[in-house]
Amino acid sequence: MAPAHAHYDQKLASVYDQMYPIQADTDQAVAYLAGLLPPTGRLLELGVGTGRVAVPLAEHGFHVHGIDDSEAMLAKLRERDPKGLVTSRLGDFTATGTGERFDVVTLLMNTLFAAVTKEQQITCLRNARKQLAPGGRFVLQAFDPALYHTMSRPDLSVRYLGETAIMLDTLVIDRSQQIMVGVHTILDGGPPQTRRHMLRYAFPFEIDLLAELAGLRLVSRMGDWAGGAYTSASTGHISVYERAGERDAGTRPEDAAGPGEADCTAVRPL
Ligand SMILES: C[S@@+](CC[C@H](N)C(=O)[O-])C[C@H]1O[C@@H](n2cnc3c(N)ncnc32)[C@H](O)[C@@H]1O
Repeated sequence: MAPAHAHYDQKLASVYDQMYPIQADTDQAVAYLAGLLPPTGRLLELGVGTGRVAVPLAEHGFHVHGIDDSEAMLAKLRERDPKGLVTSRLGDFTATGTGERFDVVTLLMNTLFAAVTKEQQITCLRNARKQLAPGGRFVLQAFDPALYHTMSRPDLSVRYLGETAIMLDTLVIDRSQQIMVGVHTILDGGPPQTRRHMLRYAFPFEIDLLAELAGLRLVSRMGDWAGGAYTSASTGHISVYERAGERDAGTRPEDAAGPGEADCTAVRPL
């Protein structure tokens, strides 16, 4: 059986927004994505989570859809979005699609790496391509593995989850498999709760190759949401892709449907 990523259960979902308290980054992400969309355009977020980016975009008047395989994360999204502006679906983005097309499809906050084999990552990228409208953009945000790849000893760090809780994080790298295993221990006054979390990281240029195999072509890459250059000092990247064959449409038979698109079945909105 293919390895599966760690599931965001209720406990992790309850602290997710405190794990990543990056309001400035979120505001810039929302502004950037809004700039890519036509007025009242359509955006799909794969791994939409608690709606950190999806909800503010929907509040700007865009038609925002999200897919996630964690009911607990989607429940937090609905709390953040009492008017139900975001259309959310429960589903695995490596296996299911919406059956619809979008001006922008996003995969943010390292979520590609939650697909823990390169085959799952390619399927996820194919699924993104399939749901991209002609002329649309696929936007992927991920950390640059350079900082972690050569780590030979476990890394221990502490996150503050508000005034009365902390999270102890242990990170171990298996360089031979490009796998990162994190163990999160939540200390909030109750019994300590531990969750294991696995990622298959990929370097930006490997992602470009996987994207090419999925029928996507790199358009631009930035080091941050404000449009800073991606350089060897960058800790992450925001990469923008288009459907390959768009400019020379019709020259290759696979451009019409995209490689492997037939595997994606549609799931109904919640
Ligand atoms: C790091 S969080 C990112 C959430 C949100 N995109 C953000 O930027 O704040 C990753 C999300 O992807 C979801 N996820 C991971 N693998 C998935 C899969 N195969 N199918 C659907 N959702 C998945 C998790 O449940 C989680 O909500």
